[in-house]
Amino acid sequence: MGFLKTNSNELRMFECNDKKMEEVLGSDKIKELLEHKEYKEEIVMHEYKGVIFPLDTIKPSVLQALETWEARPEDVFVVSYAKAGTTWIQEVVSAIANGGDLEKLNKSHTFFRVPFIEATFFAGLDVCSCLLVESHLPGHLLPPDVFKKKARIVYVTRNPKDMCVSYYYFHIMNPTLPTPKSWNEFFDDFYSGKIMYGPWWEHFLFYWNLRHEPNVLFVKFEDMKMDLKAVVERVSKFMGYTISDDVINGIVDHCSFASMKKNPMTNPDGLFDQAHKKLDQQKKGNASKEGVTLVEPKQEKISFMRKGKVGDWRNHFTVAQNEAFDAFVHEKLAGSGLSFDF
Ligand code: A3P
Repeated sequence: MGFLKTNSNELRMFECNDKKMEEVLGSDKIKELLEHKEYKEEIVMHEYKGVIFPLDTIKPSVLQALETWEARPEDVFVVSYAKAGTTWIQEVVSAIANGGDLEKLNKSHTFFRVPFIEATFFAGLDVCSCLLVESHLPGHLLPPDVFKKKARIVYVTRNPKDMCVSYYYFHIMNPTLPTPKSWNEFFDDFYSGKIMYGPWWEHFLFYWNLRHEPNVLFVKFEDMKMDLKAVVERVSKFMGYTISDDVINGIVDHCSFASMKKNPMTNPDGLFDQAHKKLDQQKKGNASKEGVTLVEPKQEKISFMRKGKVGDWRNHFTVAQNEAFDAFVHEKLAGSGLSFDF
């Protein structure tokens, strides 16, 4: 099944994740995968089973391979729609799995400790040997074996207005995604689900409807903002860990917005910077063919760890957009019991 090797229970989480980000970026496997790529002006999107993805970074072949991914009950899948606070809960999950050992955590980037299964970028890593993985895939595209084997799923979600704003800036700063022409255009695309990962309300509802399953934990960004300690306790209980209060407090501190922003092993900006630098060198004609080759760097310098707040949508939504969005959310989530703090 190509790059997705069969799981082996002998392989444990850190065997594949303990490499430093730089080593992985320069590794032969990644080089092989990416060196054929040339600079492209345009980002090509494709549709897979009703969902839109960027062709270079989330390939149909990878999505297809995931259909036969073998899961284990002890695996933990961090699942979310993009911009829900995935990196945040990833770090919480990883910190719990490592008993709050900060030294160990800070040896490699969270993106490599909890790899993103559908991203081509990770295609050279033996992600199947990891016990902790991340995915933004909607329910119908997540490997079916995850549900069959009842692997653990920590699903994080966020009020879709803030998610829309965060996604807008992510499209501006991420060289692998199309740059929105305007906020209004992006709003329309997000509203209608014509965007990478598709309709967000369907994504939410699929996992919301599984929330009572013992292998599923449903977490909201707004709850993490309100009381991170309570969420860390819930997640550790769900993952079957008994952790002392001191360790929990250490994890809460390590996972604060300020700590994660200043820590290069939790803030993904370094990854994007590195990709930008490579491209710059390549355009000047003096680049080695090593490492990652991505597309044109974006002009604006926006941090991945942007604001980390609830309610930033108020600085972006017009009154008309807000009214339309409220009505839409109301209609889509009606009768589900799912609600959000905006
Ligand atoms: P903003 O763009 O609103 O700042 P994801 O990891 O799913 O892509 O989500 C990214 C969003 O989560 C960004 O939101 C980012 O700032 C926020 N985030 C990441 N870590 C956080 C933390 N420790 N505390 C609060 N927000 C965090």
